Amino acid sequence: MANADFLNQINKRRTFAIISHPDAGKTTITEKVLLHGQRLQKAGTVKGKKSGQHAKSDWMEMEKERGISVTTSVMQFPYHDALVNLLDTPGHEDFSEDTYRTLTAVDSCLMVIDGAKGVEDRTIKLMEVTRLRDTPIITFMNKLDRDIRDPLELLDEVESVLNIMCAPITWPIGSGKNFKGVYHLLNDEVILYKTGQGHRIQEREVVKGLDNPELDAKLGGYADELREQIELVQGASNEFDLEMFLAGELTPVYFGTALGNFGVDHMLDGLVDWAPKPLPRETDTGEAVVAAREEFSGFVFKIQANMDPKHRDRVAFMRIVSGKYQKGMKMHQVRLAKGVRIADALTFLAGDREHVEEAYPGDIIGLHNHGTIQIGDTFTAGEKFKFSGIPNFAPELFRRIRLKDPLKQKQLLKGLVQLSEEGAVQVFRPLANNDLIVGAVGVLQFDVVVHRLKSEYNVDAVYENINVATARWVSSDSEQKLDEFRRKAEVNLALDGGDNLTYIAPTMVNLNLATERYPDIDFHHTREH
Ligand code: G4P
Repeated sequence: MANADFLNQINKRRTFAIISHPDAGKTTITEKVLLHGQRLQKAGTVKGKKSGQHAKSDWMEMEKERGISVTTSVMQFPYHDALVNLLDTPGHEDFSEDTYRTLTAVDSCLMVIDGAKGVEDRTIKLMEVTRLRDTPIITFMNKLDRDIRDPLELLDEVESVLNIMCAPITWPIGSGKNFKGVYHLLNDEVILYKTGQGHRIQEREVVKGLDNPELDAKLGGYADELREQIELVQGASNEFDLEMFLAGELTPVYFGTALGNFGVDHMLDGLVDWAPKPLPRETDTGEAVVAAREEFSGFVFKIQANMDPKHRDRVAFMRIVSGKYQKGMKMHQVRLAKGVRIADALTFLAGDREHVEEAYPGDIIGLHNHGTIQIGDTFTAGEKFKFSGIPNFAPELFRRIRLKDPLKQKQLLKGLVQLSEEGAVQVFRPLANNDLIVGAVGVLQFDVVVHRLKSEYNVDAVYENINVATARWVSSDSEQKLDEFRRKAEVNLALDGGDNLTYIAPTMVNLNLATERYPDIDFHHTREH
């Protein structure tokens, strides 16, 4: 029987990430969330965004950026009775496969949408990734201090484009210069907006009840307008349903302004009340591991390498699935079938990297290593199972990589395969020629790879453009069909860093034709480690 303190530690944890399109307000919301979590004295110091605008390929800037992003990779803070872990999802130029994989390590997501713009590309892609595990989604419509689109139209767009039902929890009263606050549909109260409070935790100014005459005094003509609107909204939208939220089918929606620090706390209240506690995790044995299991287990979803050649250490980010981490404990690394003693795991109390004495399911710890840990690695108390659901994602950008000194082909290949094991990039070797194709999800990864090849493997490489639109891992139930496919489609086939057969499509049309022409072949968008 797990003891009460252990269960209590699990039950109070909420581990989430933010998904959004660049500029929707992720950084600003993160700052305000930390302000509410009392982790920042003053909002506005999470990351110097201006300092993060790296001139491409500028070593120092990239180092600085990566240094900053290590400390903000995971932020842990208390909110009410909960302990919240917010995992950063690299966003602008540093958008990468790590962004996708981070989403496989959380139990819920906050989707931030710019109220003037609605659903944008990146959000659509990130939502697709959350669908792999039906992750519960909370929505925040941001920038209400500006003129936004019709709120009902925004909900419609989320429902139709992202295929998830919306249940408004708060409803905005005006926007832009006329933004007055929100009506909380579940609490039946109006929370009034005050400008100029962006850097402080504000006392909520609340008017109870939609029919309260105080509302007319406070809102003037907006009060009646609000009453009419709410009637309409209640008729036209879905009610919140916890089961459907937990199944990833319905999202509670909040309105506010991150910059004005209004509404972020309403959203946090919903998060700690409804978002799942650390969830069970599937394994290759077919049996899931629950958080309350006393034996320790966890998996690695991200590796961050130090860009500085003098410090070749890496930090592996591990999500704890079950049991308790204690400083100095011994873990079993399943892939290497080896015991390791972990003396100095890092935890990530917002802004500081700190050494932890203990950590619990839902928490992320950072393990120092020199390349012995890979993405997807499972650590246990000795058992041999492996966690599933930490995939590679099909790259979206491709370049041919070429050596300046052709004699170093072997080192190049070795470097690329190792970097691909770390998840920095993916490498493909066509069956039909000697090209080496590098594939990435975000464009900065190409620069990172060239820097690291030079500093860690002493090879000078350059890129050339190549006509590739996408890649798919292929498999088939029939060996014979796969052999036939291998012969017929050879010009489009390649092996990835782990020798898995991959279809390299010059265009999406080509890919569609191939899937039609070879119905016995399965084309996969992700590949399990
Ligand atoms: P991101 O991390 O999702 O990319 O977005 P970020 O928070 O950096 O916000 C992008 C821009 O939008 C920033 O302005 C930020 O100040 C602004 N913003 C965020 N939330 C709100 C809001 O509620 N209302 C308004 N009006 N603006 C908001 P910027 O000018 O690009 O950067 P900065 O100079 O303010 O740092």
